[in-house]
Amino acid sequence: MVKKEADGAIVDLGVAFPRYFVKHDALAAARDVDPAKFRFGLGCEEMTFCGPGEDTVTLAATAAWNVLRQKTGRLERVGLCIVGTESGVDGSKSVASHVHGLLRLPPTCRVFDIQHACYGATAGIQMARAWVSRHPSQLALVIASDIARYERYSAGEPTQGAGAVALLIGSTETEDICLTFSNISGMHASDVYDFWRPTYQKTAVVRGKFSISCYLEGMVAAYEHYMEQIQHEESTPTLQLFHAPFPHMARKAHRRLWEHRGLDPETWEPAYTRWVAPSLWANRRIGNIYTGSVYLSLAALFELEGEALQDRDVALFSYGSGSCSEYFTGRFGAHTATPRILEHLNAREEVDVEQYELLSERSLALESNGSFAATSLQSELTDVERPFIFLGIRDHERVYLQNEADWQSGCFVAARLQTSESIPTVPVVEPALTSSVQHSQLDGAIS
Ligand code: CAA
Repeated sequence: MVKKEADGAIVDLGVAFPRYFVKHDALAAARDVDPAKFRFGLGCEEMTFCGPGEDTVTLAATAAWNVLRQKTGRLERVGLCIVGTESGVDGSKSVASHVHGLLRLPPTCRVFDIQHACYGATAGIQMARAWVSRHPSQLALVIASDIARYERYSAGEPTQGAGAVALLIGSTETEDICLTFSNISGMHASDVYDFWRPTYQKTAVVRGKFSISCYLEGMVAAYEHYMEQIQHEESTPTLQLFHAPFPHMARKAHRRLWEHRGLDPETWEPAYTRWVAPSLWANRRIGNIYTGSVYLSLAALFELEGEALQDRDVALFSYGSGSCSEYFTGRFGAHTATPRILEHLNAREEVDVEQYELLSERSLALESNGSFAATSLQSELTDVERPFIFLGIRDHERVYLQNEADWQSGCFVAARLQTSESIPTVPVVEPALTSSVQHSQLDGAIS
């Protein structure tokens, strides 16, 4: 019998979301739009956004902290840290280097960012899988962290969101695994201007309808490339996770693929309800988190289905505007991830549209040099139990406050500015949050 080679796979995952959200019904009223358009046309319910003190770095570090603290000894074994992001905080310094400092990852760790619109994290995962096969005793951290910002009053505004998903990649030889991947990927690349963000802008530029057609064309082409490689011999999995810039994009994608495959046109909708919609419950309450969006659906599926996923196959479609598309498949393993999404969602604060506008402006105001010295927000920013807080920019350097965690209780007991102190051993690991997920609040389960 041929021995199956060890591979890199997802060992566990963690999430992080900003503190505030606004309901789409409230946004629709303020923008004089029929709320049914946001709720049913786009599939959105709540939009999570960054307030002062939160940025791509704090989200990335918090998601990583949430996955590392789940088991003793993980942090010390991280030898690769990749951040996939299209909302980086500097033209040169990587988000990964900030994360490395904030989490006090080992100094021998390889750290860098990957930027390719919403595709960066998928590129990171594929790279980490290859790296882990050569370093089976170590772990790779791939973090998808993004803030989706569009102009106020634009068609893109209701599809904003922010958040991070941290994926721990380890070897199938040494770890209990959540999700293994097939070594076959269907790829498609095309040089298009469908969605982009010039370096002089904080908000994205988008050709909305064109971006949807680029996504769908990329998906069909990547799927065909995948099928060519498996020589059309295997059936594709029924469970499907799609990049979801807004939840109904996944619905459009599923329908297009169904039609493309020549399946019964009468059955695409029940198939969607059964195999695609259940994974979208968190996307509907967060909004677009760009490169983490498809992995948020994966995390949501774990939270909804738990052990029932074991040994099931799943297809994933990742799309990054510009563009790069990848269609690939995986199989759920014996370990069940517990990302505690609902707890994190319930910990957010709801605000009205006026506060959303004000808080977003105050968040952006911290993005200019001198904001640290100028800010009078210091006590407000630090008066919150968050592991990492962005305090502004001083002498062109971003300043972060790192709340020291009492690893036993999960509370934050003291604060210090980010420094280059030596790395302490991390003792922990009893996650402080208590599981209060009520699946009655979620969509119907898959079958
Ligand atoms: N009740 C119910 N539904 C309604 C409605 C109402 N009163 N009014 C409109 N709708 C429906 C429309 O019929 C439409 O549904 P279908 O697409 O199924 O026909 C939907 O609501 C959207 O309405 P519009 O067609 O009028 O579209 P819009 O002008 O509001 O723009 C959008 C929608 C293009 C998605 C826009 O929000 C946008 O530009 N978003 C950002 C770009 C984006 O997400 N692109 C996706 C592909 S690119 C990508 O994936 C990368 C990425 O992450 C950004």
